[in-house]
Amino acid sequence: MALISPSILSADFTNLERDLQAISSADYAHVDVMDNHFVPNLTIGLPVVERIVEVSPVPVDVHLMIEDPDRWAPGFAEAGAQSVTFHAEAASAPVRLARELRRLGARAGMALRPATPLEGFVDLLGEIDMLLVMTVEPGFGGQSFIEGTLPKIRRARQAISDADLDVWIQVDGGVSRSTIERAAEAGANVFVAGSAVYGAQDVASEIEVLRSMAGA
Ligand code: DX5
Ligand code: ZN
Repeated sequence: MALISPSILSADFTNLERDLQAISSADYAHVDVMDNHFVPNLTIGLPVVERIVEVSPVPVDVHLMIEDPDRWAPGFAEAGAQSVTFHAEAASAPVRLARELRRLGARAGMALRPATPLEGFVDLLGEIDMLLVMTVEPGFGGQSFIEGTLPKIRRARQAISDADLDVWIQVDGGVSRSTIERAAEAGANVFVAGSAVYGAQDVASEIEVLRSMAGA
């Protein structure tokens, strides 16, 4: 089952409630939190995410591109985000953090930058609900999909099925009509799309097109 999580990074930040309503047919709303340290960009923090959780018509999928997620990520689960993803490169104790997120009632996600190998994290797959394979360098919307990440998606899907786990694989960055089929074929099942969705003439029908191209 393909799940679509439009990224509100491409929404109008002065009309967030309107732009959240526009994606009410999606499966999640993807919320990018950046701290200007882990990535060279700064977005929104916990107070804004708390309000997004209150007004969003769909569950909130938080992507934390921040240093020290061990300290900050649990607050997003406490705020009611249904999914909280931290970067493996930034976490000091990823297993402890994933367990804490789950204890707080969120799905625990772990993200890998394009250059981060899967191999060091294969043994942790049983501790998480979702692996986010970044398909661009995190930090900005509108970049082009890195084809070289497809083998990592394939290896992750194989490792998950070998271990008989139920872990979702999310892809984020450059996902559009021209790339979503390859990502799905490689084994992704959760698709973040910012510019492709919010840049479309008809946001709701773009969500449907992407979902069906991903093989819903
Ligand atoms: C980038 C963010 C993405 C971004 C994707 O670091 O994590 O979620 O919004 O934007 P597009 O879909 O435009 O590549
Ligand atoms: Zn993201």
